[in-house]
Amino acid sequence: MLWTLWFGFVAALLGTAGAADGAVYQDPETGLTYTTGFGLYKSSGDGIAVRIAIPSGVESYTPFDIVIQIIAPVTIGWGALAWSGSMVKNPLFLFWRNGQNPVVSSRWANGHTTPTPYSGVSYTVFKTGTRSNSTHWQFTALCKGCSSWTDGSTTRYLQPRGGNRVAFAYSPNKPSSPASNTSAITVHEVHGYWSHDFTSAANTNFENTVARLQ
Ligand code: HEM
Ligand SMILES: *[C@@H]1O[C@H](CO)[C@@H](O)[C@H](O)[C@H]1NC(C)=O
Ligand SMILES: *[C@@H]1O[C@H](CO)[C@@H](O)[C@H](O)[C@H]1NC(C)=O
Repeated sequence: MLWTLWFGFVAALLGTAGAADGAVYQDPETGLTYTTGFGLYKSSGDGIAVRIAIPSGVESYTPFDIVIQIIAPVTIGWGALAWSGSMVKNPLFLFWRNGQNPVVSSRWANGHTTPTPYSGVSYTVFKTGTRSNSTHWQFTALCKGCSSWTDGSTTRYLQPRGGNRVAFAYSPNKPSSPASNTSAITVHEVHGYWSHDFTSAANTNFENTVARLQ
């Protein structure tokens, strides 16, 4: 029964956001190939699709840039990705909308309390691959600094091949000052995890393709 329901969610997702969990997506708009993860937060099939593109040929334990594309229902308050699959002690990537415009925010939490701004990462939102309609909004951003961070005295890395465990969180409530990337937020209603495939997210011409994005 549960399987039947789950199958329904995936079918609904394919029909709406066009981004199935685990799928490889070749995006004609940005010219990059992404792998997709999906944070389901409602039994109706509503969820946040996360697409990741990275450079090819990166050695393990080496920092690399990441292009992230988010597709979210217009109804979300805020959404977030935790790059190493836990709320605590890793870069947190938050996003919401201010009117029609995407706002992204870099944060960090040392415990299960409100994350604070984190300057170890920078996000650049492109006009390319960023748009919305009556049901969904999407944006594309370059992240510098997401693939490596320091936890106490230990430097940690995302691996450029294989699966990296990531976490997502969702709140139906908007940040109180949506125009500001340091706005206060209230706690999530739902969080979840998946292993994101980085192997198939590798792009041979990553730097040149990214340099062309507006
Ligand atoms: C106002 C902001 C936030 C507050 C007050 C907050 C608070 C909490 C609390 C109290 C828990 C423990 C829940 C439990 O054990 O049942 C938790 C868990 C969690 N939170 Fe948050 N959170 C916030 C923002 C975020 C953000 C931005 C993310 C990014 C994805 C996030 C991801 C998670 C995850 C993945 C868990 C599961 C446990 C873990 O992996 O550490 N949270 N949060
Ligand atoms: C609405 O926009 C989203 C995000 O760009 C897209 O995936 C979806 O196909 C669009 N829906 C329609 C009906 O055009
Ligand atoms: C907010 O945006 C500014 C300008 O892009 C940036 O320097 C700052 O790091 C951002 N802060 C957060 C918390 O994301």
